[in-house]
Amino acid sequence: MLSENPVRSVNVGIVGLGNVGTGAMSILAGNAAQIEAKLGFPLRVRTVCSRSVASKELPAGLAGVKRTADWRDVVNDPDVDVICELIGGTGVAHELIEAAIAAGKSVVTANKELMALQGAAIWEKAIAAGINLAMEASVAGGIPIHTVLREGISGDRIQALYGILNGTSNYILTEIEKHGTAFETVLAEAQRLGYAEADPSADIDGFDARSKLALLSALAFGEQIAPTDIYTEGIRRLTPLDFQYAHKLGHTIRLLCAARETDEGLLLSVRPALIPSETILASVQGAYNAIWVRGEYGADTFYYGRGAGPHPTGVAVVSDLMRVAREIRSGSPERVSPFAHERLGAYKPIPITLQRRAWYLRFRVHDRPGIIAALANILAGKNVSLDAVLQLPSDSKDNLPFVITLETTSEQDVRDAVARMATLDFLTEPPLVLPMETSL
Ligand code: HSE
Repeated sequence: MLSENPVRSVNVGIVGLGNVGTGAMSILAGNAAQIEAKLGFPLRVRTVCSRSVASKELPAGLAGVKRTADWRDVVNDPDVDVICELIGGTGVAHELIEAAIAAGKSVVTANKELMALQGAAIWEKAIAAGINLAMEASVAGGIPIHTVLREGISGDRIQALYGILNGTSNYILTEIEKHGTAFETVLAEAQRLGYAEADPSADIDGFDARSKLALLSALAFGEQIAPTDIYTEGIRRLTPLDFQYAHKLGHTIRLLCAARETDEGLLLSVRPALIPSETILASVQGAYNAIWVRGEYGADTFYYGRGAGPHPTGVAVVSDLMRVAREIRSGSPERVSPFAHERLGAYKPIPITLQRRAWYLRFRVHDRPGIIAALANILAGKNVSLDAVLQLPSDSKDNLPFVITLETTSEQDVRDAVARMATLDFLTEPPLVLPMETSL
C-alpha cells in the first residue's frame, strides 16, 4: 500500500554518461529497492546530462528522467540535491564542480586527475559552502580505499602504501608473463578487446597510476603531493625475457606504485619493479587492482578488487551518493577535509635518487670478449657491488641478452654508472634498470 506521506527523495543529477555514468545509472535503477531500504528514503535520478544525451538509452525505470546537453541546467535545477561529475579531465569538470558548490549542491566525483591536482582547494570550498563532496570512485574503482584511509584505518599512522593501480598495465604485464607474448602484441590485443585506449599512453606510461598515487598518498600521509613529485616510468620496455630472468631470481615484475616514509622524507614512485614471487602483490593478475597499506600500529592491511569497469566504479559512485544523501538528510555535512592533515607537513617528498635498494640491470650487446669486465669496471668505479650475473641460453650473438643484479646501492650511483655505460659501443640498447623490491 502506498504511504499517504511518501518520504521525500534525495535527487541526483548525473553529468557524463560514459562507462562510469552508465554503470552508476544501471545500479541506481536496478538496485533502487535495496538502496531505498538501506537509506530509509529513495535516491532518485532527476536529470541526466551528456553531449549525446538524446541518443542515450536509459535503463528501465529511468525512462522519464529529464535530459539535457548543458550541465548548467543540472546545476540550476532547484530539484537536484547532488550532482555526479562523471566527465573527467580538469576543464569543464572543474568548472562544473565549482558551480555546483557555489549553488550549494553536494558533489560526487570520479575524477582522479582533478582531485589529485586541486582536491585540497576544492574541498576547502565545499566545506566553506556547507555541502558534501565525495570521491571514492576516483581511485581503484571497486576498492573502497578512500573510506579505508578516511575511516577504517584513520587512527593509524601510515608508514607505506604500495599499489597496483592501473589495470591495463597489470593486464599487459600478466599476459606477457603467462604467455611469453611481446609487449606490442599484448597491447594490440588489449586495444582490440577494449581494455586499452586507442592512445594507451596514460595507462602504459604510468600517468594514470601517478594521479591515483598522488591522491592516495596525500590522504595517507597528509602531505601536499603533486603528481610531478612522483618519479614515473612506464612498462614499454619490458619483454618476456625480463620475466624469465625475474623468475630465475624468485621475483616477478609489476608496475608498482609506492609511497613510503624514510627518515629523510617521502619516497614516491610509479615504475616497473621486481617484486618477490611470494608477496601478495605478485598474485594480482589481469586487470585487477590492489593496495597494501602498512601502519605503525595496525601493521599490514590489503585491499583487492576491480579497479575499473562500469559496475565496480558505479558501485563506488552510488555508495558515495548514499552517504552524501544521508548527510543531506541529517543536515551534517563533512566538516573536515580528508586533506586537512596536510597542514602537519610531516613527510616532504624527496628525490627518488636518494633511495637505496638492490637493482636488476638487463643488457643487450654485440657479443665479444671483455664485456662483463668493462661493465664491472664502471660499477666498481662507483663503488657498486655486483650481486649476480645471469645469462639464459640465447642464439643471438648480435643482440645477446644478460642480466646483472646489484647489491643495495643508491639510485643516484646506479644512474651515474648507467650513464657512463652509454658510451660503450657493444650495447645494442640502453640498459634496462629496474629496482628489486626485496623487502615487500
Ligand atoms: N585506465 C585505468 C586502468 C582505469 O587501466 O586501470 C581508469 O582509471
